This record gives sequence, C-alpha cells and structure tokens, in this order.
Amino acid sequence: MPFTVSSSAMTECISRIFPAPVEQAPLHGLYLTEALPTQGKYGPYIYANYVTSLDGRIAVPDPTGQQSVPGHVANPRDWRLLQELAGQADLLLSSGRYLRELKAGTAQDILPIGSGPKFADIHEYRRKAGLKPQPDVAVLSESLDFPPPLPLLEQGRRIIVLTGQAPDPARAAALEAAGLEVRPLTGVDRPGGLALANALAQLSYRRIYVITGPYVMHTLMAQHLVDSLFLTTVHRLLGGQPFSSICEGPLLSCPADYRLAHQFLDPVGPDGCSQTFSRFDRLAP
Ligand SMILES: NC(=O)c1ccc[n+]([C@@H]2O[C@H](COP(=O)([O-])OP(=O)(O)OC[C@H]3O[C@@H](n4cnc5c(N)ncnc54)[C@H](OP(=O)(O)O)[C@@H]3O)[C@@H](O)[C@H]2O)c1
Repeated sequence: MPFTVSSSAMTECISRIFPAPVEQAPLHGLYLTEALPTQGKYGPYIYANYVTSLDGRIAVPDPTGQQSVPGHVANPRDWRLLQELAGQADLLLSSGRYLRELKAGTAQDILPIGSGPKFADIHEYRRKAGLKPQPDVAVLSESLDFPPPLPLLEQGRRIIVLTGQAPDPARAAALEAAGLEVRPLTGVDRPGGLALANALAQLSYRRIYVITGPYVMHTLMAQHLVDSLFLTTVHRLLGGQPFSSICEGPLLSCPADYRLAHQFLDPVGPDGCSQTFSRFDRLAP
C-alpha cells in the first residue's frame, strides 16, 4: 500500500540505544549507509525484515478473511527502511502466496524498489554499486498455483521459481513459456532443506533479501539459512487469531540463535507509539 511521507518526518532523528553509547542518527539512510555482508553461511548473505506488534503479530485477519500485514503496525518509517534493505539486494526471495496476492491486487506493493523522488537515492545507490535497477526475484512454491507475474516481467527482472522434485507439468510449462525459470529441487516435495540451501548458493547472488511470511521463514530457520533478521517492533498490542509470528511451523529440532547487533528507538511510530528497529545476527551453530 502506498504511503505519503513528509520529508521533515523522515529526517527526524532516532536514537541508537545499542550498542553504547546512545547516539542520535537520521532515519533516512540508516540502512543504506550500513554495508551489508556479501557472504553468508551457505554462500550468499541472506537477510529478512519484519514489522511486528509488541505481542508478536506480523499478520492479522483482514475484512476478507485473509491474513495481511496489520494496518496498525505498517508505517512509512518502517517502509522506508524496508526499501533501504531491498536497495542492497541483488535477489529477493518471495513465495507463491505473494504472487497470488499480486494477481488479486491485494499485495502490499509491487516488490521494491519504489519509484518517485522519495526513493531516488536508493536507485542512485544501486547505480553506484553496479546493481540492476531492481533486484531479481526467486519464488518458493510447491503448488506453482499462480499466474506469471506480469508487472515483474515487464520490469525485465529474472524470475526463478524453486519448487519440489515433481512439479505439476502443465503449470511449470505455462510459467516457463511466460519467461520464468522453473527449477525443481532434487529429493524434496516442497522447497526446503539442504536442497534449497544449495540451490540458493548455486544461483550466484551475493545478497538475498527474504520478504516471505512465517511458513517460508520456518523452512529457512530449520536449515539455519538466515544470517540476519531485521525487526521493526511497534510498541502496541493487537491480539487476533490465528496467531501469526515471524516463524510458524513445528518445533525446530534445534533453536535458531541470534545476537542483537544494533537497536534504534524511534519516538515517532504509528499514532504516537514508539517503535524499535533491531538487527539480529545469527550465531554460528
Ligand atoms: N509483517 C510483516 O513484516 C510481514 C512480512 C511478510 C509477510 N507477512 C504476512 O504474513 C502473512 C502470511 O504469509 P503466508 O502464510 O503466505 O506465508 P509465506 O511463508 O510467505 O508463504 C507460504 C507459501 O510459500 C510457499 N512455499 C513454498 N515452499 C514452502 C515451504 N517449504 N514451506 C512453506 N511454504 C512454502 C507456498 O506456496 P504454494 O502454495 O505456491 O506452494 C505457501 O503457500 C501474509 O498475510 C503476509 O502479508 C507479513
């Protein structure tokens, strides 16, 4: 969903509260000036970003009965940081769910980077870094039950679909005919496990930005694939069922452990609530 943002609101400072000492920093540029690694556990550096309520909701039921990002936590200051994180990526990792939402017109946005003067500095950053104007896209899908994402294809982006070992042949053929690359992963019915880790490494991208929901996140966490987690926590509680946190699925056989790398306090969150922007880096298992 598009946001209107006043430039003065964006330039208000936030406070770095960890690590010490406490310091003021402009919100605008916060994540663009922090060069992310280009190497992760399995080759590419893999990072994710969520906006969540204080009670851990990343999605709540909307009036149509679908789950969607809560309007009470989504906010332009988080959106700006999401765009900056996408600015450093050469590949976005998405899911079949997103492409269905894109077709239905209910997706939060076409995959960043946004257009217009608000995001011109991010495009300039990419140009100087030798990155394509828009990151390519990898899609995890078992069902292949989505139409070719025309808005993304029209932007000239490479779209790779990672799926299980026996995809529906007609759906795979239709996607390939539209220009998508369909890659079945050997030995798994749905994308996951070491097969997924190896496939992502073999794609030869350096920074992969995960923009999926909690079920794909669970798959990635089970393989300890996420090097850094960026979390925006809006200091407001929402309740709501079913509960949707950043990671949903069976108990992980081994916990995914992280350490806080930084935390910023933003006094100007939605409706006067404060919010924090945190980065957590994965501990080596
Ligand atoms: N607050 C936030 O920051 C934030 C961020 C992201 C998402 N969300 C919200 O989270 C909500 C839930 O998203 P979601 O339920 O669609 O979750 P998801 O984890 O994004 O996607 C689930 C889909 O991924 C595909 N998939 C492929 N391989 C998979 C695997 N191994 N494990 C799990 N899924 C696999 C499946 O697609 P196929 O059916 O095509 O096989 C499945 O439908 C949405 O409302 C979204 O807006 C919030």
